[in-house]
Amino acid sequence: MKQDNILVLDLGSHDNTKITRLIRDCGVYSEIKPHDITAQEIATLNVKGIILNGGENNMIDGNEIDVNPEIYDLGIPVYAVGHKLAKVNNKTAWANTDEEIKEELKTFIFNDCQAEANWNMTNFINDQVEIIRNQVGDRKVLLALSGGVDSSVVAALLIKAIGKQLVCVHVNHGLMRKGESEDVIEVFRNQLDANLVYVDAVDRFLGKLENVNDPEQKRKIIGAEFIRVFEEEARKLDGIEFLAQGTIYPDIIESGTKTAKVVKSHHNVGGLPEDLQFQLVEPLYQLFKDEVRACGEELGLPHDMVYRQPFPGPGLGVRCLGAITRERLTALREADAILREEFASHGLDKKVWQYFTVIPEFKSVGVKNNARCYEYPIILRAVNTIDAMTATIEQIEWPILLKITDRILNEVPNVNRVCYDLTPKPCGTIEWE
Ligand code: XMP
Repeated sequence: MKQDNILVLDLGSHDNTKITRLIRDCGVYSEIKPHDITAQEIATLNVKGIILNGGENNMIDGNEIDVNPEIYDLGIPVYAVGHKLAKVNNKTAWANTDEEIKEELKTFIFNDCQAEANWNMTNFINDQVEIIRNQVGDRKVLLALSGGVDSSVVAALLIKAIGKQLVCVHVNHGLMRKGESEDVIEVFRNQLDANLVYVDAVDRFLGKLENVNDPEQKRKIIGAEFIRVFEEEARKLDGIEFLAQGTIYPDIIESGTKTAKVVKSHHNVGGLPEDLQFQLVEPLYQLFKDEVRACGEELGLPHDMVYRQPFPGPGLGVRCLGAITRERLTALREADAILREEFASHGLDKKVWQYFTVIPEFKSVGVKNNARCYEYPIILRAVNTIDAMTATIEQIEWPILLKITDRILNEVPNVNRVCYDLTPKPCGTIEWE
């Protein structure tokens, strides 16, 4: 780590992430570490300042936690924020608003610590290229490239660092949105000259999913089949020693700190058999999502790829309700493409967090070309949220809704009705399955 680092030590606060974010906003790298980090570990991290972030969860096994006293002997400025830290003999900040906290933090990091504002994506990329080259040498790295933000940025970074030593495997499971696999091929194979293996597994996935109604069962089949396809491709390739993953900083934070009550395990391509284990390359593990996007742009990835809305791993499989049929899947994909096109042309793609279409299993009666028809409805959903835990509905203007409806009814076969889902989360989830 060449950039100056301000450590936020977790003494049971809920807002470690917020403090870290505020420091990075000032152009200085910051990361969260457990309260009992040793002076030895700190010495390896280019640390310019230490923030003790106290809070409510400051008891472990009935004992109040504290830092290793040896950290005060490192000659690194220490600053306490939060409460219940009377024991600390340094200054204590009692700031309230984010702006006030930021001002306090600025004074600390630039005056007391003399830190340099050298955290930016150019420096990050240069550092990572060197780190990846040192780690990998002349060996090969495998990456499951879905075309999502994280895997695309990992791919672009690794291509810059090791070129064709990176082998990207893109599995088209037949549940991608319109044009998505084509975009992956265009950007990575044609523009970035990547070593890309494209696997057309459409029939295989849709075959396994035939007549499967239960949503959980569908997800399990898609997940398990993905691992199987990926495993088969990995076995065909010789001499791969590394597996790259798009792990990002929130995954690391969510995996738990010592004081966090909820510990969530994370793994991306987990579940590979014992005899097929690789060393991991996770170059984005320090980045928050917006930094991942900035990194992708800096690496020259197309804006749309880097800023695309979240899309579930099981893809359109969770939006084609009940047992998936090719007929309904095609209608869903075409309707989704129209929704995305219209959102983009009205600037809603930059405003709305997530928007998509859903197709149920039932039909209803309608009239088309003066004749009775019995066809599927398409449901539109457009939500805003910060963390996907709760969500509100975007109030789309009527003319835009009517245009989307008109286009879907005229352009998508087997659809004779369009509905707009007005349900916030809770009580509706964002997805329907
Ligand atoms: P729900 O439907 O639970 O979704 O309100 C919350 C957010 O999570 C996304 N989602 C997924 N993302 N794999 C993912 O990577 C999945 O299996 C998955 N299922 C739901 C969903 O699109 C929404 O943004």
